[in-house]
Amino acid sequence: MSMRRRLVRVLARPLVLAAAVSALSAGSTAPVAADSVVIGGFPVEASDSPWTVALSSRDRFGGTRAGQFCGGVAVGHSTVLTAAHCLGKEVLGGPPERVSDLRVIAGRTNLLSGRDGLEVAVRETWVNPAYDGVSNVGDFAVITLAQPLPAGSAIAMAADGDPAYAVGGGATVYGWGDTSGAGEYSNSLRAARVRVLPDALCEDAYPGGADGTYDARSMLCAGEVQGGRDACQGDSGGPLVAQGRLIGLVSWGIGCGRAGNPGVYVRVSDIIRTLGWTRG
Ligand code: ARG
Repeated sequence: MSMRRRLVRVLARPLVLAAAVSALSAGSTAPVAADSVVIGGFPVEASDSPWTVALSSRDRFGGTRAGQFCGGVAVGHSTVLTAAHCLGKEVLGGPPERVSDLRVIAGRTNLLSGRDGLEVAVRETWVNPAYDGVSNVGDFAVITLAQPLPAGSAIAMAADGDPAYAVGGGATVYGWGDTSGAGEYSNSLRAARVRVLPDALCEDAYPGGADGTYDARSMLCAGEVQGGRDACQGDSGGPLVAQGRLIGLVSWGIGCGRAGNPGVYVRVSDIIRTLGWTRG
């Protein structure tokens, strides 16, 4: 079974079950570093990255970790970006508008014990109609919130040509996802420092296959050449930030933190271009 199918299966089940399923199916992948959001990460406070939000449905994913199943990023007071696959039928079991308790959780570091921050209802979802679940091209969606987030929650997006996209530059990815590659979802927000990698690395790693095809125009390659630090399952839709601006959304990869399989992100400049957004 391809990693992509496996991810979808993991996401489509309650997390307790998901951990078991993921551990069982992890046998075919190389082990990742034990200390490996996010793999190889460190704890952060939501107040220090207020644009990092969690997508939640307790009905579908269980209430233990407040129903978290994906990440997202606030780019306006009522606008959140996430991955298209996070709002797909394979994850939600149907169209997003049928998930009546779909919420965005903002300003909460710990999803297990925290009651702080805000849980905001979703007014509208727009899933990129051009998203291709085979190549993974166009893996982004826009959520409009029913209420605005606190002032200062949104992060600026890096437009085409922004130096934040420079290859070799440092970037940070945030999320509540798997910290080991074995279905150990984090209760608390974590971040990992990675690097923007040459497109050629991801073109070589992902020339086209069951997991996806790297497309330099719409995707961004990031991680560590030697592996170790990476996003992982449950981090999808969350932010990749460089020089204080949003450059990517967690999208896909093969395994997590493996040498030769960098993380693939949605290139934010392609979202801006596709939506015809002007820089705010
Ligand atoms: N598709 C995953 C999710 O739904 C994200 C995987 C990212 N993988 C990686 N190795 N960077 O959460």
